[in-house]
Amino acid sequence: MQPKSVTVRVPAKINLQLGVGPLRSDGYHELVTVFHAVSIYDEVTVETTAAGTGLSLEMIGDTTVAADASNLAWRAAELLAEAAGVDADVHLRIHKRIPVAGGMAGGSADAAAALVACDALWRLGTPREDLSRLAATLGSDVPFALHGGTAIGTGRGEQLMDVLARGTLHWVLAVSDQGLSTPAVYGECDRLRADTIVADPEVSESLMHGLRSGDARTIGLALTNDLQDAALSLRPDLARILQAGEELGALGGLVSGSGPTLAFIVADEERALDLAVGLMSTGLVRSVKRAQGPVPGARVINESW
Ligand code: C5P
Repeated sequence: MQPKSVTVRVPAKINLQLGVGPLRSDGYHELVTVFHAVSIYDEVTVETTAAGTGLSLEMIGDTTVAADASNLAWRAAELLAEAAGVDADVHLRIHKRIPVAGGMAGGSADAAAALVACDALWRLGTPREDLSRLAATLGSDVPFALHGGTAIGTGRGEQLMDVLARGTLHWVLAVSDQGLSTPAVYGECDRLRADTIVADPEVSESLMHGLRSGDARTIGLALTNDLQDAALSLRPDLARILQAGEELGALGGLVSGSGPTLAFIVADEERALDLAVGLMSTGLVRSVKRAQGPVPGARVINESW
């Protein structure tokens, strides 16, 4: 027997390191990145509908994301149905809390959650490696949203290797109203680097050392993002917020992924609250979120029968 509905919770990510190598012939860049899943979650519920009704999608908490076949979660449900040879008669409900177009892989998270939820709804028992392969065809960040934790990503970012990390890290995120387009930020990065020879990136040893010892100060000093100059070029206002965060006591700060969300690391929860209040009182930031990491990837949290 199949459940009537399944709900999956899926985290946002930040990149503790985002090393962007040369542009490949397929239009992607070779990456060396360190993904870190943080405690800001979307929830995706899938519900069986009458045979022949096909797919439908509803967004809760955000009306700017398309609730149609162009939504990555819709494509994920379709892809899994095709691969498993089942009919995708299913209604998807996405409760959105991850900032949209924020550099935190919210769209990828929803796709990963839809894969896990439909797999449970249809009782497919798809092996993790197979789900991960399907995930990679949907987007470079989708496999990590399945995986969670802290992991090194190579290739387009879809090839993952766990990082041994100690303890819990505390983050303050400065969220923008206006999103940034990921392809536009990569394009700006290429434009800014047009006259330079781009070397293949390597994993930062000081970041690995900081993660292994759980030392927020070492991690703060080691945060790097090769897309940061491009994001700041498209959104110069972010530079003042980064500076304000560091003046207000952050141990480090950077643009998250392709931005425009900024991530600041602090020593503990109390300092996270202080920094959140401090950033809001500068008047430069519209909204802040506090989060902790690492947290697990997409997981079923409810099934109803
Ligand atoms: O894989 P995904 O669809 O999420 O990527 C979105 C866009 O980001 C790509 O179309 C490409 O412009 C850029 N990208 C890239 N190199 C990567 C990952 C993404 O250039 N490794």
